[in-house]
Amino acid sequence: MLGPVILAASRSDRMRRLISAAPVTKQVVDRFIPGETVDDVVPIIEDLTGSGLELTMDVVGEDITTPEQAAAARDAYLRLVDRIKDLELGTRVEMSVKLSMFGQALEGGHELALANVRPVVEAAAAIGTTVTLDAEDHTTLDSMFAIHDELRKDFPQTGCVIQAYLYRTEADARRLAANGSRVRLVKGAYKEPAEVAYQNKQEIDKAYVRILRTLMEGEGYPMIGSHDPRLISIGQELARRAGRKLDEYEFQMLYGIRSEEHLRLAAEGHRMRVYTAYGTDWYGYFMRRLAEKPANLRFFVRSMISK
Ligand code: FDA
Repeated sequence: MLGPVILAASRSDRMRRLISAAPVTKQVVDRFIPGETVDDVVPIIEDLTGSGLELTMDVVGEDITTPEQAAAARDAYLRLVDRIKDLELGTRVEMSVKLSMFGQALEGGHELALANVRPVVEAAAAIGTTVTLDAEDHTTLDSMFAIHDELRKDFPQTGCVIQAYLYRTEADARRLAANGSRVRLVKGAYKEPAEVAYQNKQEIDKAYVRILRTLMEGEGYPMIGSHDPRLISIGQELARRAGRKLDEYEFQMLYGIRSEEHLRLAAEGHRMRVYTAYGTDWYGYFMRRLAEKPANLRFFVRSMISK
């Protein structure tokens, strides 16, 4: 019940100001967003890759309102690529981007987001890695898929995310599986109406399995984005039945969530990628993590009270 309330709060400027300024927030936020700058996260990249894990890096800050902020977001990613190129980690460190941060919601946003994301994809390719386009709320997805198609003409490794809670996703998955895309499947983290999305956990989980089967049986590269133990073992079984080798799909989880499971899967020989977010504008990302597990909210509130 708390999840939708927290997601509604994630869109409120008043709550943003209140929570961002709360004295103990930072220490709670650090669990999910372990740094503010590239320099903060380079040691984390070295540490996690040294443990056999792979990463996808996300610079937080989706709530931009001007083209200048969108350009700054692009530049933040370019700095990241520049900083990690000497580590020579190739696809072991890729990037995840939210097109809203590149200007998608502004006037002329589709073209602006494409123009801003392209140099990031080019820079990533130049150091032997790639970019995945995150999925945001359902109103943004036609534009995201069109940008994905456009980028794939020159950079076929560009990935995208699909969300099991949306009714449209089974059709999207069939299309992407047939055209050989890299696709991360997640349950979905936004507040969506019943007209477009399943509201019930069981229905979402069943849809996840149907969609994952489509991806596994298709031509692309499935990325299983979930911490759900049941879906992880179903994913392994579907991959086995589809005759996929261990390097023909991967698992992905968020930094700070079920970290021991990251290491367990990697030790079993799986490709395990940790989605690692950093930056100062962490509010939206942080609130979605609270909404996914209301126990996180209790921990957050307790830490404020005990201060
Ligand atoms: P579920 O929510 O059922 O959680 C299973 C178990 O995992 C829980 O019981 C708990 O133990 C643990 N867990 C899950 N979330 C937790 C949390 N926040 N704090 C502590 N424990 C937690 N969404 C989206 O809409 N667009 C996107 O682009 C992405 N990208 C993305 C990338 C990656 C790598 C992941 C793993 C997830 C996303 N998501 C996302 C988020 C996704 O939609 C979903 O909200 C979360 O993954 C939670 O769903 P689970 O599949 O983990 O299952």
